[in-house]
Amino acid sequence: MTDTPELLRPHAEQVYAEELARLAAVDDRPRPPSWLLSPWAVVTYLMGGTLADKTVISPKYVGSSRLMEVAVATLATDRALLLLGVPGTAKSWVSEHLAAAISGDSTLLVQGTAGTAEEALRYGWNYARLLAEGPSEAALVPSPVMVAMRTGAIARIEEVTRVPADVADGLITVLSEKTLPVPELGTEIQARRGFNVIATANDRDRGVNDMSSALRRRFNTVVLPLPATVREEVEIVTRRVADLGKALDLPAPGDAVDEIRRVVTIFRELRSGSTDDGRTAVKVPSGTLSTAEAISVVTGGLALAAHFGDGRLRAGDVAAGIVGSVVKDPVADRAVWNEYLETVVRHRDGWKDFYRAARDAG
Ligand SMILES: Nc1ncnc2c1ncn2[C@@H]1O[C@H](COP(=O)(O)OP(=O)(O)OP(=O)(O)O)[C@@H](O)[C@H]1O
Ligand SMILES: [Mg+2]
Repeated sequence: MTDTPELLRPHAEQVYAEELARLAAVDDRPRPPSWLLSPWAVVTYLMGGTLADKTVISPKYVGSSRLMEVAVATLATDRALLLLGVPGTAKSWVSEHLAAAISGDSTLLVQGTAGTAEEALRYGWNYARLLAEGPSEAALVPSPVMVAMRTGAIARIEEVTRVPADVADGLITVLSEKTLPVPELGTEIQARRGFNVIATANDRDRGVNDMSSALRRRFNTVVLPLPATVREEVEIVTRRVADLGKALDLPAPGDAVDEIRRVVTIFRELRSGSTDDGRTAVKVPSGTLSTAEAISVVTGGLALAAHFGDGRLRAGDVAAGIVGSVVKDPVADRAVWNEYLETVVRHRDGWKDFYRAARDAG
């Protein structure tokens, strides 16, 4: 990892500049137009591996490499990529790393909201100049999508299903004709080869069905699943917590893996409605208990352990965070949590400390 100590959150292409440079150096496979790496090297960047020159590439995405291959192959075609999934399944994370690896720039980003206007996807105007000089190339303010078209780069659209459908439909021409008309100037922007779009959508918010079918057909959809096993999810949390801890200057935790496994187990059981061994049904709370929440519970716990404990992550450091994530609705979720504590946690071997800490925290 490259050191960018003064920045709170450097972009992927900054953090992993060295890995990307090493990959580009050894990559002798064909690269699509404007791509900095071949599709093979992009997938290696995402999944991790060891290069012929012994450089170790860290895994960014933990999960099926086939999914990443399909995503990368899609971007090499003329179809756009839609990453779909429940909250916290790394949609934004994968989209950032794909843009970083393919274009060296993950910042051509539009955040979709109910208030996203057409200008955010197409272009706007510098009104002072527009009034003084009339419409001109210099008065035009390009959107990230327009910049990506001009440079042959990847544009990212986050939470595309939150964008009002008529605004989102402005993308249809861009994606099918690869052109963006600017009638005020009597011109158009024609996309350079290499241009493409990665959109993300959360299927908890509003369905993809709210997208017009004309727009949906321009995308290949890749569904990112929840981590398949406890082991996989523990690995994700451990990796991300270590990265975040470094960025926040938290001391490296002593052995935190047992505590991380406990957090992950609790989240998975409450998410799925049954204990890990499948024997006991448990009620499901209203909030989302995604991997992302597990990462923040553990990071918060490490901060407690570092500043107010002996640096070792213990049950008491994660208990309050877990209760806070689970109990979103003070009445219904509280009952769900208490039932889980009394029927599952209380009787589990080696969980006495956590049971006590959780009761104190609640
Ligand atoms: N399979 C995974 N591999 C690596 N990291 C993961 C994985 N799943 C989740 N994460 C981590 O979880 C965190 C949340 O991911 P991210 O914000 O990308 O989720 P999202 O799918 O965009 O969620 P939302 O729908 O809420 O926007 C990131 O720090 C990411 O690294
Ligand atoms: Mg996201």
